[in-house]
Amino acid sequence: MEHIQNGSYQAVNWNYIEDALDKATWEKLTQQFWLDTRIPISNDLRNWQGDLSAAERRVFNLVFGGLTTLDTLQSQDGMAALRQDAVNQKEEAVLNNIQFMESVHAKSYSSIFETLNEKSEIEAVFDWADHNEYLQYKAQKINAIYQEGSPLEKKVASVFLETFLFYSGFYTPLYYLGHNRMLNVAEIIKLILRDESVHGTYIGYKFQIGFKKLSAEEQADLQAWLYDLLYDLYENEEKFTHELYDELGWTEDVLSFLRYNANKALMNLGQDPLFPDSADDVNPVVMNGISTSTANHDFFSGVGNGYLLGEVEAMDSADYDY
Ligand SMILES: [Fe+2]
Ligand SMILES: [Fe+2]
Repeated sequence: MEHIQNGSYQAVNWNYIEDALDKATWEKLTQQFWLDTRIPISNDLRNWQGDLSAAERRVFNLVFGGLTTLDTLQSQDGMAALRQDAVNQKEEAVLNNIQFMESVHAKSYSSIFETLNEKSEIEAVFDWADHNEYLQYKAQKINAIYQEGSPLEKKVASVFLETFLFYSGFYTPLYYLGHNRMLNVAEIIKLILRDESVHGTYIGYKFQIGFKKLSAEEQADLQAWLYDLLYDLYENEEKFTHELYDELGWTEDVLSFLRYNANKALMNLGQDPLFPDSADDVNPVVMNGISTSTANHDFFSGVGNGYLLGEVEAMDSADYDY
């Protein structure tokens, strides 16, 4: 947004709030601030060395390599692109917070790698991430929208990345959590999921405000564009999932979880679901991993300011119930 108005550089005034959701989201996000360094990942070394097969460790490393790429993209390009279109200064401040937390997310995977792997193994993971065809396809597809898309297209890209594309990676630590393994790694993933739940609903909410202002024809065009994009990303994600998970025999379960989360991304954007998959279709071990992991988290609780997020809460975030 333009910072100079009537010849003056505008100071941000938090005592005048254009949209209560900006302030509520700021409070929610700052309240749930965390750092990777607080979690004792080395307590998972026994599981890593004693309970996971070589194939499982390999898949585990690769999915975290993929997650690193996506969080790097969010921290370096995603939030900067969205911030250009902020409609007020508090929204910019919220996006600043999100941008920093994306850097924390991206760094946290390195803390996991460092604890569990040798240097040469870590280098191999990063080499794989920088060159994997399907991972690079989605990262560059989303980044191109960040660079060239309209304000509403950029928000769609961000929500698809965070509420859909991350989940082929999140499946693995949630699966182990459901089996009571790798619990400290899971703790980090729970914290990331909690952040992404807020990011996805907040950015989705901002999308819905803009979407409602479009004419019926513009809305139909944008809907056609976003469903095409989702199909395109899903097709790529199918190939990515086969490549990663065929060896373990988890592919169909991961794809169902992906479709379930794709629907959630659409709900964040106020759009109808695309796939028939519901929570009942997802591997119960993974759903159990999500739900047992959330006992201490209170997603969008009313702490402090009667924050309810109305319809946002109704967007089926209840399954994650942070
Ligand atoms: Fe993130
Ligand atoms: Fe995020």
